Amino acid sequence: MSAVIANNTYWMNNMSNPKIWTHKGTFLLAAVGSAVGLGNLWRFPYLAGENGGGAFILVYALTIAAVGIPILIAETLLGRASRKSPIMGMKDLISANNSHPAWKTIGWMGALAAFIILSFYSVIAGWAIHYSGLMFSGSLSGASAEVISSGFDELLASPGLLVLYHSIFMGVSILIVGMGIHKGIENGLRFMMPALFIILMVVVIYGAIEGDLSAALNFLFTFNIEDLSLEGWLDAMGQSFFTLSLGMGAIMAYGAYMSPESSLTRTAISIAIVDTLIALLAGVAIFSLVFGQGLEAGQGPGLMFVTLPLAFADLPGGGMLGGVFFVLVIGAALTSAISLVEPVAGYFIEQFKISRPKAVALMGGGCWLLGLLTVFSFNIWSSGTITHDLFGKSPFDVLEFMTNIMMPLGGVLIALFVGWSLSRDMVKAQMMTTAIWLSCWQVLVRYIAPTAVTFVFLRTLLPEGTGYYLPTLGAVVIVASFAIPHKFRSQD
Ligand code: PHE
Repeated sequence: MSAVIANNTYWMNNMSNPKIWTHKGTFLLAAVGSAVGLGNLWRFPYLAGENGGGAFILVYALTIAAVGIPILIAETLLGRASRKSPIMGMKDLISANNSHPAWKTIGWMGALAAFIILSFYSVIAGWAIHYSGLMFSGSLSGASAEVISSGFDELLASPGLLVLYHSIFMGVSILIVGMGIHKGIENGLRFMMPALFIILMVVVIYGAIEGDLSAALNFLFTFNIEDLSLEGWLDAMGQSFFTLSLGMGAIMAYGAYMSPESSLTRTAISIAIVDTLIALLAGVAIFSLVFGQGLEAGQGPGLMFVTLPLAFADLPGGGMLGGVFFVLVIGAALTSAISLVEPVAGYFIEQFKISRPKAVALMGGGCWLLGLLTVFSFNIWSSGTITHDLFGKSPFDVLEFMTNIMMPLGGVLIALFVGWSLSRDMVKAQMMTTAIWLSCWQVLVRYIAPTAVTFVFLRTLLPEGTGYYLPTLGAVVIVASFAIPHKFRSQD
């Protein structure tokens, strides 16, 4: 009875409160929308393909459980405790807890990472627009491997086409967020998420019928640890951050609108399970089709844009199904992109008191401009730029590399801030959980997650051949530097 009353009160309060999701379950829907994206459909299958399937998936699943879920809980907690955009929210939490101002980095770096990621995410999602058109029009049916792979090269070589698709994708993302969190984001998600799930199921069933399901299952679930290189291990960890949308303020921004009654733990576990299941289902569908046509799994980023279209090209109804599959990719990318617009736009609204449409246009316009660096990296700037001279990488590679650093760094900082700097009362009030789980989670967030992530982080940054000692030492020293002073300061 009291739950019903609480629920009704929640409802009545929220109908008029533009700052909280309309329904208790909307945060889950929105966070799953953010989590499921190009990371699941494009990046996960190609990384698994490059890194020996089952072994990669095992490490990936372990990282999600031991590092991803605890940090996901922590990031949502920060959002709900502050009820503001990540930058402003961190400011408030810092003053409420008397924390060091340096923790503001979490908000600023998150916003910067969101800005950069959206700029290239939009360009890549644009490729899917191109491919859905090609598939539906039937122009790839029966095409040879050479034709399809040179078609992809031609797309990348055309700045005009890439800018066009990038603009369409960014425009739609801005439109949705510009309409507000209820009318735009919530309504959009309520329609898109079930549709995406149905399409995925259709593609999985089609893959099972027309492709080689047992080869796909074998590849994905046969665990062979020798197949996994150190790089694969690092990839698995990076992927678990990317796929759960961690460390970029996206989850924190959505968490700011979360119902005060929802359980952080249960919600985070649900997000991680659904996200992982969808990645696996996408992997099953893609590899069934690819193996069914006798093609290779380890094609890298071209797996979805070259190998998969080739598999569809020779199958009955392949054009139609292929088109539908790429619509799924576009939709999933869109529900992720809107979660990248929100944290920065939210900041503009709070800081400069400008209207939502203006704030969103500012964020989207800036990202669109930055996205041009990625567009040109594939053609007119594929060599001879300053970044090539300095780092031997294209501007896109440099942007991607920067986010690969910011994501784990943001994740560690979130874990450490919530683990060591937030008051225990605030944490308890948000967690609303048993003492045992609270302690377990605290161990994960204070020690396990930061040590694991810092290790991987240092291992990636230090030159090849450094071995394991230095990164291990570094990780232990950094975590100890939070733990030891804390022991002298308080008793909790
Ligand atoms: N999680 C999204 C994906 O898997 C990417 C993303 C990262 C979205 C960070 C928002 C924030 O595609």
